[in-house]
Amino acid sequence: MLYTNARLATFAAPGRYGLIERGALLVEEGRIVWVGPMDEAPGGPAEDLGGRLVTPGLIDCHTHLVFGGHRAGEFEMRLEGASYEEVARAGGGILSTVRATRAASEAELLAGALTRADALIAEGVTTLEVKSGYGLEAETELRMLRVARAIGRQRPVTVKTSYLAAHALPPEFAGRAGDYIAEVVIPTMEAGHAEGLIDAVDGFCEGIAFSPEEIARVFDAARALGLPVKLHAEQLSHLGGAALAARYGALSADHLEYASAEDAAAMAASGTVAVLLPGAFYTLRETQAPPVQAFRDAGVPMALATDCNPGSSPLASLLLALNMGCTLFRLTPEEALAGVTIHAARALGLTDRGTLAAGQRADFAIWDIETPAELAYRIGWNPLHARIHGGLPC
Ligand code: NIG
Ligand code: FE
Repeated sequence: MLYTNARLATFAAPGRYGLIERGALLVEEGRIVWVGPMDEAPGGPAEDLGGRLVTPGLIDCHTHLVFGGHRAGEFEMRLEGASYEEVARAGGGILSTVRATRAASEAELLAGALTRADALIAEGVTTLEVKSGYGLEAETELRMLRVARAIGRQRPVTVKTSYLAAHALPPEFAGRAGDYIAEVVIPTMEAGHAEGLIDAVDGFCEGIAFSPEEIARVFDAARALGLPVKLHAEQLSHLGGAALAARYGALSADHLEYASAEDAAAMAASGTVAVLLPGAFYTLRETQAPPVQAFRDAGVPMALATDCNPGSSPLASLLLALNMGCTLFRLTPEEALAGVTIHAARALGLTDRGTLAAGQRADFAIWDIETPAELAYRIGWNPLHARIHGGLPC
């Protein structure tokens, strides 16, 4: 099928957005086989897109889409003055979602996750990442990962999984982080890997979670299995997580509000993507923005994601994350859109998507707008016309 008469934001051609005005795109067997000006397009059956904008399919590269319960009560507590860390230290926060997730069946978890996946898909998302991390015990961590895989079977979307048992210390291991890592995190990683459930290994490096030394043990185990790593780093304080992630050649370091220029240099050297999460920044009413200029100066690719989770970012709109990335973090619309396409792909270790170019998967979104900046500028106003996943309209 030839898609013709479109404005293509390719992120592959030279110039802003890699834009090709009056472009065409040829798809065969789920792949893009030709992209260029419509006058030069090969013949064959064609669909006229009426000048609409086409982007690569959007990629949400950081979500906690699978969870039980909700945390509206914690939202109320924070509005009354409690901080995210105070709620967590009082046994709320992540641990309250752990209780609800342990109690939920696979079918219940899947039903909840699908409603959020559907919201993302309706906005042109064709690939999304899903983390575990609300089980903190073997059985529930593996259940979460199976549910994540089931999303990719039940919906026309590609799911990449990240194993995040090093998210919080469960109460049964209070004061015994080392034992938790040795007895739960590492053996469950091995079991999940053997079942083909894990695409990457993640952790939360923070005062209310794990130290860099503890995360290093988790990363060593991942390395032994040949699994790539990523890390929630420098979200609430500067603990050295970004530098650690860079040392391990991590795919990404995420959040990064408290990262430094030295961290940016280390991440540039290791090719680690900075994943910025404006939904969490906004929800926690954080005031320190991530060092976007330092990332630019160092040449660190920046991705943007929803961080969809029940606590710090109850956000299931990647388009709103685009807008927030611009308004709250001062990204340009071009940087924001690159952050949910080409750089989001890289944050997941994927090179076969995120741009419109010959040889790429035919994942793209067709929008009822003229210019790419409109995607970041609108708020709650979804212009998706159609979505193509692996060459199939859906
Ligand atoms: O990415 N930072 C840690 N983990 C999640 C929050 C999880 C939660 O609050 O439930 C995040 O923001
Ligand atoms: Fe997260």
